[in-house]
Amino acid sequence: MRLTKDDVERVDKEGLYRDYEAWPELAEQALKLKVDLKERKVYNIVYCGMGGSGCAGDIIQDLAFSKPNIPPIYVVKGYNLPTFADSSTLVLAVSYSGETEETLTAFKEALKLNCTTVGLSSGGRLEKICAEKNIPHVKLGKALTPRSALPYILYSSLNILNKIGYELVSQEELNGSIAVMQKVRKTTGISNDLETNEAKQIAEHLYNGYPIIYGAQHLKGVLIRFKNSLNENAKIHALVEVLPEACHNSIEAWHPSNLDLRALFVLGERRLKKRFDTLMELVERSGFKYRTVYTEETELFSSLMSILYLLEYATLYLAVLRGVPPAPTPNITLLKKRVEEN
Ligand code: PA5
Repeated sequence: MRLTKDDVERVDKEGLYRDYEAWPELAEQALKLKVDLKERKVYNIVYCGMGGSGCAGDIIQDLAFSKPNIPPIYVVKGYNLPTFADSSTLVLAVSYSGETEETLTAFKEALKLNCTTVGLSSGGRLEKICAEKNIPHVKLGKALTPRSALPYILYSSLNILNKIGYELVSQEELNGSIAVMQKVRKTTGISNDLETNEAKQIAEHLYNGYPIIYGAQHLKGVLIRFKNSLNENAKIHALVEVLPEACHNSIEAWHPSNLDLRALFVLGERRLKKRFDTLMELVERSGFKYRTVYTEETELFSSLMSILYLLEYATLYLAVLRGVPPAPTPNITLLKKRVEEN
C-alpha cells in the first residue's frame, strides 16, 4: 500500500488524522486557555491521569529531571495519591473526558487532603465538581480522542506550572516547539508521499512485526506514549526499552527466533553511541531488521515534540496499513463500562 491520502481517509473513517494534522494549532490554542492561578510555593507536584491524559505527566517528569529548583514531580496512574500528599502538594488532575474513575478518585482525595488542586478536562464530572467547589479548572478544547488531544493536555499543564512559578519550558521554547511541529507536519503529513515521509516509512518497518523500541532515559515519556498509541491507534502490542538500563538486561534477549521482531532505535545522547551501535549489531546478527530515528532539534522540549509528533503519525499510518480504524478503542470502552456497572 502506498499510504496515500485516500488510503488514510478510507480506513480512518472517523477522521482521527484531522486532529493530528492540527496539533500545532491545538498547542497554540492550549497556550491561550484561561486558568485563574497565582504563583505559590509547593513542596511536591503530583500529576494524575490515565492513558492519553496520563502520558503528558511522564513527559513533564522527564523535563523536570534536569531542571533546578523544581519540586519533585510524581505521576499517578491509578486511584491513590502518594502518602506524602498534603496541603503543600500541587495536584494536577487530568482526564480528557472528565469521567475516568481512577483520576476522579485521586482528585477527590486531593480535595480532602487540602492539596492545591487544578482540574483539566474537556467537561464531564471533573469540570462539574471543580465548578461546585470553586477549584481552578482548565477546559480542554475539542478532539476526537483523549490521545489526539495531547497538545491541549501537555501545553496547558506546562502553562499551569509556569503560572504557579515552576517554569519547565519557557514561553519562547513553547512557541519554538510549535514551529518545530509545523516543520514535522510538512514532511510527515498525510499528503506527503511514502518516498519522503519518514512516519510512513516507520509504519512500513513495523508492519507485520512486533515493535521493540529503544531510546535514552530522557525520552522515556515519549517512548511510552508511542507504545500507548501503537496499542490504541494501530491495535498492536509493543515493547519499550530505555538506555542505558536496557544494556544490562534486554540486550541479552537478542537471539534468532521465530518471532518477527522489529527494532526501532530513537537515537540521541552521544554518550550512548557505543551502546546503540552494539545493540544494532546484535539485532542484525539475530536476523532482525531495525530502523533508526533521530531529531536535529537541540533544545530539549522541541526535540521531544518533534520525535513525539513523528512517531504519533507513524501509529496512524500503521493502523491504515493494518486496515484498522485508529479512532475507536472498543476494548477500553468495554472495560470502562464494566467497571461502571460494579
Ligand atoms: O486515549 C485514550 O482514549 C485513552 O487512553 C484515555 O485517555 C484513557 O482511557 C483515560 O480517559 P480520559 O483521558 O478521558 O481520562
